[in-house]
Formats: sequence, structure tokens, C-alpha cells
Amino acid sequence: MIPRIAVLGSSNTDMIVKLPSLPGPGETVIGGTFSIAAGGKGANQAVAAARVGAKVTFISRVGNDSFGQQSIAGFKSEGVDTAHVGIDAGAASGIALILVDQSGENCIGVASGANAGISVKDIENALDVIGSAEIFLTQLEVPPEAVEAAVSGAHQAGVPVILNPAPAQPLPVGILKRVSVLTPNEREAEQLTGTSIRDDAGTVQAARSLLQRGVQSVVITLGVRGAYIADRTHGEFVPAFRVRAIDTTAAGDVFSGAFAVAVAEKASLREAAVFASAAAALSVTKLGAQPSAPRRAEIESFLRQNQ
Ligand code: RIB
Repeated sequence: MIPRIAVLGSSNTDMIVKLPSLPGPGETVIGGTFSIAAGGKGANQAVAAARVGAKVTFISRVGNDSFGQQSIAGFKSEGVDTAHVGIDAGAASGIALILVDQSGENCIGVASGANAGISVKDIENALDVIGSAEIFLTQLEVPPEAVEAAVSGAHQAGVPVILNPAPAQPLPVGILKRVSVLTPNEREAEQLTGTSIRDDAGTVQAARSLLQRGVQSVVITLGVRGAYIADRTHGEFVPAFRVRAIDTTAAGDVFSGAFAVAVAEKASLREAAVFASAAAALSVTKLGAQPSAPRRAEIESFLRQNQ
């Protein structure tokens, strides 16, 4: 069975400069190399899920410019359904400026452009797609009222919701009760709970706090420390795969996209987290967001060699 996944989220074009080190405020660092790649947290997750084998419908907006046209062409070439990617004549397409250092660490500034115009009306127009998916997947790089409407629509239709709460920001009241799996990274988990997760005890505490707020299960991604997975009856750490990082941009997006497909295929929380960790590990070995999302065969081969 090919799982159907509906993804709501942002589409950006990423302008990437790979540098010897990240500049501090007021500092200039020279010696970089420049590249352009397709990005945006929502689009990255949609493409990651499609490459793993899902039938993906993406709900988003781009501007009426060459970046937007290239984004839509890219989605189509990945087999992603773009019927709900609107073209906004009055706004530029989303752009992200990304600096990446030699260890693969990054910092990102985003001009949301057309992404900021995704509306509740857009969600109402997509409710049939959301309601007929096996999984609904979203993040927080588009207007919160659109996220809230889509999460409500999925919940009402009985479709499990996976929410990747990135970038970190306060969540609309009540949304967590409708979330099947929340996939924050360490920083997002800290900001949502106010709990420091520098050690294992803090991580467990943060997961418990999120579960108490109504989320059914939590996967806190911890970078090289792996992930902590928990539901109301069980919690455990899942180790990370060791790779040489070139660029960690979109590792969380690739994790969420691959994780969503595994959950739709009825994998357990642990099996889905291991599969998604392998996808994320492969993604950090390549530069760029969408160019780094692996295909299913690569993930399965990596798992055979590394488990
Ligand atoms: O998560 C990585 C993404 O964040 C980049 O592709 C960039 O576009 C920003 O949205």
C-alpha cells in the first residue's frame, strides 16, 4: 500500500553560503562558496516523504516569480501533487539565507513572502485532501491560524497529525491535544516546556511535560545524541547513526518526512524513529535541504550496513 500524506507548510528557495566559520553579530567572514537549493520546512518534508515512497499532496503558496515556478516544477518532478500550491501574484516567493560552517552547523534567516499568505480559506479548500490522507504533517513556518485550522480538520476526520514545531514559537491554545506525534528538536522542546534538556533526565522531563499537555507521543530529536521517544506508557532513547556532517540544514525536516511515511506504514514509534534517524543521518552528509533528502533504497541500504 502506498501511504497518502498531506503536508502543509512553507516553500523557500535557499541561498546557501558555506563558510569556514559562522560570523558573529557585526562580523564578516570571507572564503565562502555559494549555492542555491530548494528548501522551506514544509517543502523539505513533502519531498522527503515522496522520496521515501509516499503519495504526497503539498499545501502551500509561492509567488508569481521564477523561484516559485522552479519550486513547483521541482515538486512535480518528485511526484508531489501541487493542486494546493497557490500562486500569489502580490508576493515574492519565500527566500532563506543560510550560512553553513565547516562542521555542518547553520544559521538561517527567512523572508516568508507568499508563505505568510497561506490562509484558513486555503485550508478549507484542502480539507478533502487532508481528511483522506493516512497522515497529516505540518510545521510552524506558515501562519498559525492555517496550522490550527488544518490540525483541527485532520483531527475531526480521524487523520493522525504529526507536528514538527519548527521554528520554535508559542503554539495556538489547544493544538497539542490534537497531535498524535510531536517532533521537536532539543531547542524547540526546551522553548515549549521551559525545561533544560542538556541531560537525559531533563529530556525525559520535557517529554513528560509535553505528554501532560495532551500530545499522544513525542519524539525529541537530539542531534548526535539520537532521539528520545515517549508515549504515555513507555519512553526510551534511540541512538543516532554516526556520519561526517557536511550540512545539518533540513535534517529535522528529512526526519519528520521519513518518520511520517513509516508511521503511515504502521511501523512502531521505535521503528519509525530508527528509520527516520537513518534518513536524517544520510541528509547531513550532503549540502542543501531538498538535494540532501535520501530515497528509500539508500535508507534501507544504510540501515543494513549500520544496524
Ligand atoms: O529546516 C531547513 C529550512 O528552514 C531551510 O530549507 C530553509 O528554507 C528554512 O525554511
